[in-house]
Amino acid sequence: MRSHRKQSSSPLFIFLLFLFLIPFSFSTPKLQPVKPKPYKKRNQPVSAILVFGDSTVDPGNNNYIETIFRCNFPPYGLDFKNNIPTGRFCNGRLVTDFIGSYIGVKENVPPYLDPNLGIEELMSGVSFASAGSGFDPLTPTIGNVIDLPTQLENFREYKRKLEAKMGKQQMEKHIGDAVFCVSAGTNDFIINYLMIPIRRKTFTIEAYQQFVIYNLKQFIQGLWQEGAKKITVAGLPPIGCLPVAITLFSDEALTNRRCIDRFSTVAINYNLYLQKELSLMQMSLAHLGSKIFYFDVYNPVYEIIHDHQKFGFEEVSSGCCGSGYLEASILCNPESYVCPNTSAYVFFDSVHPSEKTYFLLFKSLRPMIDSFLGSV
Ligand SMILES: *[C@@H]1O[C@H](CO)[C@@H](O)[C@H](O)[C@H]1NC(C)=O
Repeated sequence: MRSHRKQSSSPLFIFLLFLFLIPFSFSTPKLQPVKPKPYKKRNQPVSAILVFGDSTVDPGNNNYIETIFRCNFPPYGLDFKNNIPTGRFCNGRLVTDFIGSYIGVKENVPPYLDPNLGIEELMSGVSFASAGSGFDPLTPTIGNVIDLPTQLENFREYKRKLEAKMGKQQMEKHIGDAVFCVSAGTNDFIINYLMIPIRRKTFTIEAYQQFVIYNLKQFIQGLWQEGAKKITVAGLPPIGCLPVAITLFSDEALTNRRCIDRFSTVAINYNLYLQKELSLMQMSLAHLGSKIFYFDVYNPVYEIIHDHQKFGFEEVSSGCCGSGYLEASILCNPESYVCPNTSAYVFFDSVHPSEKTYFLLFKSLRPMIDSFLGSV
C-alpha cells in the first residue's frame, strides 16, 4: 500500500498531492501584536510590500481563478480577524502580513486580483502569489494556477495603475522603495518532482535543484529589471517534516511520524546553492543600489518542530484540520474535524503552518528585516 502510493501517478493521487502542497500562510490574532516601526525612523523609507510566490504567501488570489487549490471557506481563517476565510492557507495571518505590519505599511497584504482594491490599498502593497505555484514552469500547470511569469506580468500592470495615479517618476521611486518578498519552491519538489514522474525521469535531484534555481534567478532578474531594489527570497522549509510528506512517503507513516531526513537534505542542499547564487547576484547588482536577501525558513521551522515543547506546541507531525495526515485545500472544509486549540499545532493543515508557527517564523526573520532595511 505504501509502496504503491510512492509510485502512483494516478490523477487522483496527483490531485491529492497538489492540494496538500500548497503551502505556507501565517496568522494569529491572539499572539502579541506586532508593533510597527515608524516609517521615518528607518534609514531607508519603505513605501510598500510586494509579494510573489505560492500558498505560503497567497492571501487569496486563487479565489479569482479556476483552480481547486483554494481555501476561501472554513475552517481556514478561523483565527483571522472576524474569522474570515480570505483564501490564506492558514487559520490566521501569513508571515508577509506580519512583515507588512512590522515595516509599517499595512496590517494585512491583500490579493492583487481582488477587484475592489482602491488605489491607496494598491500603493501600500499587494500579493501576486498563487497557491500551488512554483519556479519550474511545469509546477503551476498542475493546478492551473498563476505561474511566476504571469505574476510578473500582473506586476507590470500594477505599475501602470500606479503610474496613472502618480506619474512615472514617482511610481519608479515608489517601486524602488518597496520591499519585495519571494516565497516558493516547496511545490516544485514535493508535488512536481516527488509525486509526478515527468521531471524525475529527466533530472537527477541535483540537476533539478539547479533547474529550479535557474528559473528562480530568471524571475529575480525580471523583478530587478522592473525596478525592484530590495528583494527578499525565502529558502525551502524542512520539506521532509510536512505532515503530508510523512503520510505519503514514510515507510512507517502510521506508527512513526518522524521527519523524512532524505527530503530535508534536499532542502538543505537547495538552500546552500540558493544562498550562493543570491550572493553572486547581489554582488553584480550592488553598484545599482539593489539588495537581495536570503530568508532562512529551514532552521527556524526545524527548531520549532524539534523543540516544540519549548514553544508550547503539542502536535508536530499532523495538521489541525481533519485527520491531519492528508487534508488541505478542498479536503479541509466545513465538514472537517478541527482541533480545539490551533496554537498547540505546528501545522494547520497537512501542508501549511499554523498562524502561531508563521508568527514565530516572522520573529526569527525580524533581525534580518532590520538589517535589510537599515533601521536605526
Ligand atoms: C492552547 O495551546 C497553547 C499552547 O500549548 C496554550 O498555551 C494555551 O493555554 C491553550 N489554550 C487553551 C484554551 O487550551
